[in-house]
Amino acid sequence: MKVLVTGGLGYIGSHTCVELLQNNYEVIVIDNLSNSEVSVITRIEKITNKKITFYKGDLLNKFDIQQVFQQNEIDAVLHFAASKSVNESVKNPVKYYKNNISSMVNLLEVMEDFNVKKFIFSSSAAVYGSTTQQPISELVDTQAMNPYGQTKVIGEDFLNDLYISDNEWSIVVLRYFNPIGAHESGLLGEQPNGTPNNLMPLITQVASKKRRLLYVFGNDYNTTDGTGVRDYIHVVDLAKGHVSAVQKLLLTHGLHTYNLGTGEGYSVLEIINTFEKVNNVNIHYEIVDRRAGDPAVCFANPAKAKEELEWSAERTLEDMCRDSWQWEKALENNILPSRK
Ligand code: NAD
Ligand code: UFG
Repeated sequence: MKVLVTGGLGYIGSHTCVELLQNNYEVIVIDNLSNSEVSVITRIEKITNKKITFYKGDLLNKFDIQQVFQQNEIDAVLHFAASKSVNESVKNPVKYYKNNISSMVNLLEVMEDFNVKKFIFSSSAAVYGSTTQQPISELVDTQAMNPYGQTKVIGEDFLNDLYISDNEWSIVVLRYFNPIGAHESGLLGEQPNGTPNNLMPLITQVASKKRRLLYVFGNDYNTTDGTGVRDYIHVVDLAKGHVSAVQKLLLTHGLHTYNLGTGEGYSVLEIINTFEKVNNVNIHYEIVDRRAGDPAVCFANPAKAKEELEWSAERTLEDMCRDSWQWEKALENNILPSRK
C-alpha cells in the first residue's frame, strides 16, 4: 500500500512516516522544506531501517504534485503540509489562506485527476474556537478565532462539499489537540523556526538556558490553579492515530471526523512542575497577563476515535516531558544536523 505524505518532514508528519513504515506502508513524501530539513529523511530511515521516496516540491505548484502522481501509484494521501502559527496568521493572513487553502485545492484537484480518493486531513482543535463545552466532542460547532483556525474550518468544509459531490471519496479529518514530545530515539522532534509560540518548546529552551524565562499567560482563569488548561498529546501517540485512520480509510467510504487528544487537561503550572520533576531541572517563570484569544480550558472527548479507530493515547505527561527534554538536549549538543 503506497501512501503520499505531504509535509512529511515536519514535526507530526515525520513521526507519522515512522509509524507508517513500521506498519509496512510504502511512504512517499512531498515537502518544500519551508519548515523542515532534508536530514529528517536519514533519521526516519535510521529509526525504521526502511526507505522513503522524497520529492522536494511545493503544493502551491500543481506541476510538482502531478509529477508525484505520474511516477507513483498512490493509494491514499495524508495531508500535513501547511503553515501553523496562530500569531503569524493574524499578521499575515494572505500567507495562510494561500499556503493552507490554495495548496489543498491543488492537491485535491490532482487527486481527482488521478482518481485517488482517499484523504486524511490534519485539522486542529483550533476549529472549536472558544467553546465552553468541555470536554469537546466532534459535535461542537466550529467557529475559528483566527486566520489559521479559519483555514482549518475552510479545509473541513471543502472536504465536506467534495464528499457530497462524489461519495466515492473516503475522508478522515483529524482534529489534533496539543501535540508535544518527541520520538523516543531522540532522532526526531520539533525544530521551531525562530522564536517558538507554543508552551513546550519554550519550556525546553528555558531549561537549556537558551531563554532566560518563561512567561505564564495568566493565573486568573477559572481553573484549579488559575492557569490555562490544555489536552497535551505525545506526538508518537498522535502519529499512531494516523495509522488507525489509514486503516479506516481503506475499509470504508464516507467522511469521518475525530478528535485526537488524551481526554485529560493539564494546567500550565502542572506542565512546568512535571517537567521539572521528571527531568530534574529548574524552569524559571513569571506570571504575566493573559494572551489575547486564549481559551481558559480546551480538552478533548476522544471517545469516538477510541470506538471507531480503536485508537487511544497511551503515553503519559511524564513521557511527554522526558522526551521533549531529550530532544532539546540532542539539538543543544549538536548531535543532529542543524537547520539550513
Ligand atoms: P510543521 O511545520 O512541522 O510541518 C509542516 C511541513 O509541511 C513542513 O515540513 C513544511 O516544510 C511543509 N510545507 C509547508 N507548506 C508546504 C507547501 N506549500 N508545500 C510543501 N510542503 C509544505 O507542522 P506540524 O506541527 O508537523 O503540523 C502538521 C499539520 O498539523 C499542519 O497542517 C498543522 O496545521 C496541523 N496541526 C499542528 C498542530 C501543532 O501544534 N503542531 C496542532 C494542530 C494541527
Ligand atoms: N502558554 C504560556 N506561555 C507561553 C506559551 C503558552 O503560558 O509562552 C500557555 C497558553 O496560554 C496556553 C498553554 O500554554 O494556556 C498552551 O499554549 P500553546 O501556545 O502551546 O498552545 P495553544 O493551546 O494556544 O494552541 C495550540 C496550537 C494551535 C492549535 C491549538 C489547538 O498552537 O495551533 O493548540 O490544537 F490550534
